[in-house]
Amino acid sequence: MKVNGIPYRSLWPTADGAVEIIDQRSLPYTFATRVLRSVDDMIDAICTMAVRGAPLIGVAGAYGLALAMRRDAGDPHLADAHRRLNASRPTAVNLRWALDRLHAVLAPLPPAQRADAAWLEAARIADEDVELNRAIGAHGAHLLATVHARTHRPVQVLTHCNAGWIATVDFGTALSAIYQAHDASIPVHVWVDETRPRSQGLLTAWELAAHGVPHTLIVDNAGGHLMQRGDVDLVLVGADRVSARGDVANKIGTYLKALAANDNGVPFYAAVPSPTIDWTIDNGLTGIPIEERAAGEVREVAGLDPQHRRATVRIAGDDTPVANPAFDVTPARLVTGIITERGLVAPGELGSLFPERRQAA
Ligand code: MRU
Repeated sequence: MKVNGIPYRSLWPTADGAVEIIDQRSLPYTFATRVLRSVDDMIDAICTMAVRGAPLIGVAGAYGLALAMRRDAGDPHLADAHRRLNASRPTAVNLRWALDRLHAVLAPLPPAQRADAAWLEAARIADEDVELNRAIGAHGAHLLATVHARTHRPVQVLTHCNAGWIATVDFGTALSAIYQAHDASIPVHVWVDETRPRSQGLLTAWELAAHGVPHTLIVDNAGGHLMQRGDVDLVLVGADRVSARGDVANKIGTYLKALAANDNGVPFYAAVPSPTIDWTIDNGLTGIPIEERAAGEVREVAGLDPQHRRATVRIAGDDTPVANPAFDVTPARLVTGIITERGLVAPGELGSLFPERRQAA
């Protein structure tokens, strides 16, 4: 997608063997990129959320392993880099999926061939991510067109967190549907949840503004009220891990939107590329690990001061006990449909859409 008229991916290899990322911690205030030269740089970028979003974390992990192989391609270093990258964020299964895929390619090779093979496989995963998101967008745009054909007014979508192009290599998942609908002249308006504590909604608003999609930023607690008023046609979110039976782990607060949607007869959809599905887990509520992040994210709020300089203000003292679960799980019974690269299905039908993956797990 474009930033100031220039096409970008959210991460790309550089000519001198490093990886460059869009540093998402600076957005939406400043557009900045950062060059990562080692597996430690990559782990730091993932942990601090300079790169974030499940599909992008997966690709970042793959490139992290490629960087590790440049330094030392021996078995112990391969195992150590795989383990450390995998531990950098626990909820998005895309990370484990990409690392396991790379490991399966690299382990049988002699160490001298591993760096080049890792680089190639990471690039393949990145390119595949773009194609998966393009396909998800086409299926999702069809859904939005169907809603518009029924209502004859701009489709009112509520989204939570950022499932846009910067959460992937390109196009996004939930926002890919919105971009494709908008580009096909289907009128869409997006209610953008702010998504405290990391305010990923600001990233969504930044993306939508750049693409010319009408949107309105709302506080996280506004969604239920808007649904009661009939101002939301559907909820559309991304996901960090989906269980085989269709339970959806996504950014903290998603479950509350699904509950409100269910109470108001508003359909709830998740846009999910297949690497986000964890076929080894059936019950997502007990099986999906939920990341607990630092208390400082809750105690502080970041923004700009009156002089437009980056500033962080403290809103709770060190003595205030804080919990900061970063994700929650929406049970499949609250999910109307899952939009994958192979089409839109009810959560219970995921297995029949991907029979080969279901059997392999
Ligand atoms: O903590 P984050 O910002 O990495 O969480 C991201 C989300 O929860 C997204 O909604 C999800 O990864 C979908 S990204 C296409």
